[in-house]
Amino acid sequence: MTLTEHVSAHSAPSSEIVFDISDVTLRFGGVVSLNDVSMTMTRGEILAVIGPNGAGKTSLFNSLTGVYTPQEGRITVSGRPGDPPVSVIGKKTHVINHLGVARTFQNIRLFPALTALENVKVGVETRQTSGPVAAMLGLPWQRREERESTAAALALLRDVGLGGRVDDLAASLAYGEQRRLEIARALGTNPGVLLLDEPAAGTNPVEKRELAELISRINAERGVSVLLIEHDMKLVMSIAHRIVVLNFGEKIAEGTPQEIQRNPTVVAAYLGTSAEDAAGQAEQAPELNLIDTAPASHHEETGDE
Ligand SMILES: Nc1ncnc2c1ncn2[C@@H]1O[C@H](COP(=O)(O)OP(=O)(O)OP(=O)(O)O)[C@@H](O)[C@H]1O
Ligand SMILES: [Mg+2]
Repeated sequence: MTLTEHVSAHSAPSSEIVFDISDVTLRFGGVVSLNDVSMTMTRGEILAVIGPNGAGKTSLFNSLTGVYTPQEGRITVSGRPGDPPVSVIGKKTHVINHLGVARTFQNIRLFPALTALENVKVGVETRQTSGPVAAMLGLPWQRREERESTAAALALLRDVGLGGRVDDLAASLAYGEQRRLEIARALGTNPGVLLLDEPAAGTNPVEKRELAELISRINAERGVSVLLIEHDMKLVMSIAHRIVVLNFGEKIAEGTPQEIQRNPTVVAAYLGTSAEDAAGQAEQAPELNLIDTAPASHHEETGDE
């Protein structure tokens, strides 16, 4: 696969806005994690957020999902097609999830002692009505919901390629399988937009390729908009419609994969040199600079959040 060859045909992004992010600043004491960041995400697109370690990528995800509350700026979301935009600022994570926003985490967060099926059912059941009391009493509609959630979870597991691991404990799955299981669980909440924080971290090249295909398929077949943080440039370049680059909390570039690969400011951010020096290097090997300098390998081993 060449860098610019896409894994599959994509659903064409529309003009409807999913996330509208304006002038967002997030500080932790003296650390500015996001500095006056503005960007929009359009319905149907796979939008990648890239940048060196500590650039603010996870902080952005956390600001979009109610984990962090930025001190300044506005963020609205329209989770599912046709939903009116609502502010996420000050909303709790589970409320934003109900609005159609699901995510996975940089450090895998599964229930290790539950089976694959049970992990996905946790996602599915967040959108059901029965509470624990109905569950204990085994009321008829609760039993129906139980059957439905099992069926939905099984379908999702098959869809992500885990149909043969349904009853295995999450902890016993290979790393790449756990990453897929997290995606299945997130899809269980029936999101309109899926936020993936380094879904390929720690996986091998074959698993990376399979993940790229899975993400493209989720986007094309389910119509789910995907916001993707990923250090693996080959993966990003193969599936993203558009890329936003963060560095030291600031948005330094946005554009198509081709534009970003040739952008001297972006290359400089990854190389830690001046844009002028990077421009010369980018000219000599226009497609290779980003690929060869992305700090993917050392980062994957740490997996810090
Ligand atoms: N809860 C927090 N408390 C204090 N500082 C934080 C917190 N969360 C993030 N930061 C800081 O904000 C900056 C951006 O961190 P963030 O995790 O968003 O980067 P990142 O782009 O996701 O990096 P990586 O590629 O390593 O995952 C870092 O300096 C980090 O230390
Ligand atoms: Mg991060």
